[in-house]
Amino acid sequence: MVTCGVVGATGLVGETMIKVLQDRSFPSVSFHPFASDRSEGKIVRYRNIEYPVELLRPEAINKGMILFGATSANIAKNWVPMSIAAGALVIDNSSAYRMDPDVLLAVPEVNGYLITGKENIIANPNCSTIQLAVALSPLRQLGNIEWVSVSTYQAVSGAGTPALEELKRQQNGTLPANAADSIHENIITSIGPPDESGCCCEEVKLMNETCKIMGTDFPVFAATARVPVRTGHTEAVVVKFDNIVQSNEAVKILLESPGVAVSEYGSSPLDVENTDIVIVDRIRNNPRDPSVLQFWVVADNLRKGAALNAVQIAEQYIAAGSV
Ligand SMILES: NC(=O)c1ccc[n+]([C@@H]2O[C@H](COP(=O)([O-])OP(=O)(O)OC[C@H]3O[C@@H](n4cnc5c(N)ncnc54)[C@H](OP(=O)(O)O)[C@@H]3O)[C@@H](O)[C@H]2O)c1
Repeated sequence: MVTCGVVGATGLVGETMIKVLQDRSFPSVSFHPFASDRSEGKIVRYRNIEYPVELLRPEAINKGMILFGATSANIAKNWVPMSIAAGALVIDNSSAYRMDPDVLLAVPEVNGYLITGKENIIANPNCSTIQLAVALSPLRQLGNIEWVSVSTYQAVSGAGTPALEELKRQQNGTLPANAADSIHENIITSIGPPDESGCCCEEVKLMNETCKIMGTDFPVFAATARVPVRTGHTEAVVVKFDNIVQSNEAVKILLESPGVAVSEYGSSPLDVENTDIVIVDRIRNNPRDPSVLQFWVVADNLRKGAALNAVQIAEQYIAAGSV
């Protein structure tokens, strides 16, 4: 039994984290919701008990406490070092520590065996990366992957509470002056501004984090877009192997893979909202190249893409025996 806390408990990931902890009967003896001074004192319900939102101060942290981070990267850089110093395990959803070579970036179905129970921080990957890694990793049984191309259609909740509120405002008729700022009935083809290479930050995360989690160095070509969907990220994936592969073999492998459901035709974000599964849909060989597989991957970005994956990491950490 552990003491746990959610930092950013009033945000989309934090609220989902609280639901997932309850759904999975997480073995906590006490619970603390933390957020900014904007939310201090606001009431959060956990297992039918009302908890006032607190500010995270060093005296609120106990040795052995598990802190689930659901704040932006800049905010995480303020509270994570203090929490580690006080003896907590931090499982952080932000991008702040994901590519730190000393920090494990974990998707339990893929590299959960690396969790020792002795970490002081484990990073939770980007939402679009998690569902890609869950679908891709088992397919390595078919042969060596030469490259992967992924195009994403990402839900607005992936950008947090302000973005979802903006979508609702635009759906109700308050449109921005500049069409490029409109997400309602639109597609935004750069998630974050492009860097000097021309890639946006979401593309860089998919390219780098996928290789770190899978322990591979094949190229991942990513193109990411925001679409006017509330929740559920959709990805069109192309995988090139160095040998001929059969799509029916891929189906068999994925049917036996943890966390994956296989669908023949037409899965959508509405199918996955509030669920824990990663759906791999319409798996097919490319008609021109038998060493290429194509499929869609759909998952709830707030659950498997964030909160569920973080809670699974904590469960594995506890099972590894240090708490
Ligand atoms: N949304 C997704 O699908 C998703 C998926 C994977 C990873 N992530 C990552 O998860 C993190 C949270 O995302 P989100 O979508 O939940 O964002 P969000 O809805 O905007 O929530 C942000 C949370 O951070 C809190 N916060 C802000 N300043 C703080 C401070 N100084 N101290 C403590 N808490 C503070 C906010 O509290 P107040 O209410 O008091 O402002 C709120 O609870 C981000 O790093 C994001 O990149 C998100």
